[in-house]
Amino acid sequence: MTDLIISADQHHIDLAWQELKALNKSAHRRAELSDGVWLVSLKGALTRPQNPIFLRHIAPVQEVVPLDGDQSDLDTLKRTVRDALLDDFPTSDPFSVQTRLFEKTAYKPFDVNRALSSTIVQGTGAALDVRAPKMVLSVGIAQVDKQLFGMLGASTVEQNLSDWAGGERRFKREKGQISRAEFKLLEAIEYFDLSLPEKGVALDLGAAPGGWTRVLRQANDALVVVAVDPGELDGTLQRDWGVNHVRGTAEWYLQSLTADQKFDLIVNDMRLDGRYSAEILTNYAPHLAPDGSIIMTVKLPQNYPLPRLNETLQILKTRYNICGVRQLFHNRHEATIWAVGQ
Ligand SMILES: C[S@@+](CC[C@H](N)C(=O)[O-])C[C@H]1O[C@@H](n2cnc3c(N)ncnc32)[C@H](O)[C@@H]1O
Repeated sequence: MTDLIISADQHHIDLAWQELKALNKSAHRRAELSDGVWLVSLKGALTRPQNPIFLRHIAPVQEVVPLDGDQSDLDTLKRTVRDALLDDFPTSDPFSVQTRLFEKTAYKPFDVNRALSSTIVQGTGAALDVRAPKMVLSVGIAQVDKQLFGMLGASTVEQNLSDWAGGERRFKREKGQISRAEFKLLEAIEYFDLSLPEKGVALDLGAAPGGWTRVLRQANDALVVVAVDPGELDGTLQRDWGVNHVRGTAEWYLQSLTADQKFDLIVNDMRLDGRYSAEILTNYAPHLAPDGSIIMTVKLPQNYPLPRLNETLQILKTRYNICGVRQLFHNRHEATIWAVGQ
């Protein structure tokens, strides 16, 4: 039997569950630990899901200990790690401890992380590296049937699907940031491991107020951006020589393009039905440079999001090859698609 904590966006946990079930039919739900976080059990070992869309994070549960919610828990957790989990941390592999607390306790995740990382350093000689760990000790502290438990497990970052606790990729708010939407694009670039063009022209459809345009301009000064939106762009972008604001719709701008106008990257965050937005993008296909990529956000309805996502993908597939689809941490009722020309 294998126990796991799975995490997904709270509105899409059922879809994440279907992805897990497709990998292992024996999987069953044991408890809901929090919104979008389930304790599950399955027979045998779990094969690593290949590019799941909704399953955001998987943490193994190898040890379960009852806790009291006070400072004594830190000793209990340290003892558990010392007695049962140290062998999972090779000296050569940098590690981190990721704690998620789903109940109110006398300590914070940071206290658990600090206590358990020193236990691992002392016991194995492995180096703590919270930025680029190879191994992770995942600790979930939650109530199940009115009893508080610590659930601990060791795994590689790849097995967890993310090197962030719960897959919650956080970015620091930057000075000059225009919109929260910037995090979506940053997360997509990181998740899909994309290299942005070093120069050339990017097209940003649905650009206002300009967060994505700002991210692209910050990435490479030689990459100029055509930002298409009937709405206003932030003042800093209006003063940027490398931004050309086309004040109109994507449909309208397309009519003005000549056959030889190509873009090295097309991004699309338009607030439109995904299917219609995808249709517009397919019309732009002749204007994508041969090595160009597209990144698109698909708005998902609250009810039956999967059929909408699939219909959107079908439309895109008529002109593009889909390379990645992911419901990112920064997507709210959305998913993000990465594709290239055919
Ligand atoms: C979520 S906002 C985009 C946020 C932007 N990515 C950012 O980082 O600031 C969606 C935008 O889509 C634009 N939009 C909706 N329909 C459009 C269309 N047909 N053509 C161009 N823009 C459109 C809206 O005006 C709105 O500014």
